[in-house]
Amino acid sequence: MRRSFRKPYPAAVRGEGVYIWDDEDKRYLDFSGSAAVNFIGHGVREISDAMVQQARQLEFAHTSQFTTPVAEGFAQELLEFAGPNFSGGAVYFTSGGSESIETALKLARQYQVEIGQTKRHQILSRRQSYHGSTLGALAVSGNRRRREIYLPMVRESEHIGIPYCYRCAFDCTDSCYNCGQQYAAELERAILAAHGEVAGFIFEPMSGATLGAGTPPPGYLAAIADICRRHGVLLIADEVMTGMGRTGRNFAVEHWAVAPDILVTAKGLSSGYAPLGAVIATRKVVDAIAEGSGAFLHGFTYNAHPLSVAAGRAVLQRIQAQHLVSAADSAAQAAAGSALKAALESLCDLKAVGDVRGLGLLWGVEFVADKKTKAPFPPEKNFAGQVGQACLRRGLLVYPMQGCVDGIAGDHLLIAPPAVITPEQIAWSVEQLRTAISESAAA
Ligand SMILES: Cc1ncc(COP(=O)(O)O)c(C=O)c1O
Repeated sequence: MRRSFRKPYPAAVRGEGVYIWDDEDKRYLDFSGSAAVNFIGHGVREISDAMVQQARQLEFAHTSQFTTPVAEGFAQELLEFAGPNFSGGAVYFTSGGSESIETALKLARQYQVEIGQTKRHQILSRRQSYHGSTLGALAVSGNRRRREIYLPMVRESEHIGIPYCYRCAFDCTDSCYNCGQQYAAELERAILAAHGEVAGFIFEPMSGATLGAGTPPPGYLAAIADICRRHGVLLIADEVMTGMGRTGRNFAVEHWAVAPDILVTAKGLSSGYAPLGAVIATRKVVDAIAEGSGAFLHGFTYNAHPLSVAAGRAVLQRIQAQHLVSAADSAAQAAAGSALKAALESLCDLKAVGDVRGLGLLWGVEFVADKKTKAPFPPEKNFAGQVGQACLRRGLLVYPMQGCVDGIAGDHLLIAPPAVITPEQIAWSVEQLRTAISESAAA
C-alpha cells in the first residue's frame, strides 16, 4: 500500500552522493535527506560492504540467547559519541524511531518502579511535536493531523505548550527568553497537577517536521531540565531527527548544554542504509534496573539486528573519518551547514516566505499568504504540497508539511540534505526552490 492513493510515485532505483535516480533515469537532488534520514550520502560502498560481510558471517541471533561483537562494539562507540553524560550507560538497539520511542517510554516507567516510585507512569510531552506513529509514540506526540483519528485509541497525558518564536504568543522583545521561562513553568504546573504520577518528559530539542526546525529560545531547555531534576522526572530527548550530527553537533542537546537521562536516535544513525534506532540510557537508569529486578521487561525480535548494527557502525566510522559533524555546522566557516544557511536565508525576499529557521543541516522554510500579518495560506490550498510537487518536477526533493500554525493551518518545508552536499549543489537547489515557490504563489 502506497502512502497516498491520489499521487503518482516515481520508482527509485539508484543512489549516489546527494542524488537518487528513478527508473526513467531522471535525477533528483535529495535536499531533504529523504525525511531527514540520509546524512553521509547515498551509495557509499563501505556501508554495503560492512553489511555483506556481517551477513556472510552471521545474519541474525536473538537477543534473548546471544549478544554479538558488532552490537557490543557499536554500543561502546555510540556511548562515546554521546559524550560523558552517558559514560557507564547502555544502548538498546531497535529497528527505527517509533520502536525506540516506545522503548524509552517503557524504560522511564520501569526505572521509576525499580526505585520504588511505583505511582509514576505518566509521560508529559508538548503540543506541536512528533515522536512516532505507533500508538504509544502517538500518545505523546502533538501533531494534530497525524494523530486526530487515532485519539480514541491512545491513552494520553498532559501536552504542554511549545515555544514558537516566529509566532510568539507573548510578544516578547528579549529573543523569547521570558516566554521560554513561561513555557517551562507550564511543565512545572503540569507535574504538580499530576500528583506524583509523572515518570518522564519527552521533547525534541529542535522541533522536527511539525514546526519545521524551530529552535528553543535561550534558557528554555536549561529550565526544563532543572524542573525535571527537581521533581524526579526523567528527561527524554527525542533526537530521532536531530541526532548523529544533523545539527552540527553529535547530538542537538549539546547546543544548549542539556544532559538528558535517556536519548533516542534513529534516521541518521544508519543514514537509511538499514532500519535502525537506538535508546541511549545514562548509568543512573541502567543501574536502577541492573541492581533492581535485573531485567528490562521489553523486547522486539529484531533488537540489535546484526546487519542493521553493522550498517550503523560503518556509518559512524564514515561520519567521523569525513568530519561530517563539522561539515553540518552552520556557524563554521566554509561548512556545508553555513552555505545552506546563507542560501536559504536569501529566500526571505520572496513574498510567500515568512520565516527561514534552523541549525546545522536542518532548516525550515515557512510560507505565508501575507508577510505583514503572518496570515497562513488556507490549509485546503496545500501550498507546501504545491511547492513540493513543483520542486519534484525540477528534480529536487524537499519535505513539505502543513499545520505549523495550529496543527491544521500553516505551510512549511523541511530541508535536510546529506552533509556531503557541495556549495554548487546548494546554490542549484535553492535556485530551483526559489522558482518553485514563485510558480506556486502565482498559481
Ligand atoms: C522526532 C521524531 N521522533 C520519532 C520519529 C519516528 O521515527 P520512525 O519514523 O523511524 O518510526 C520521527 C520520524 O519522523 C521523528 O522525526
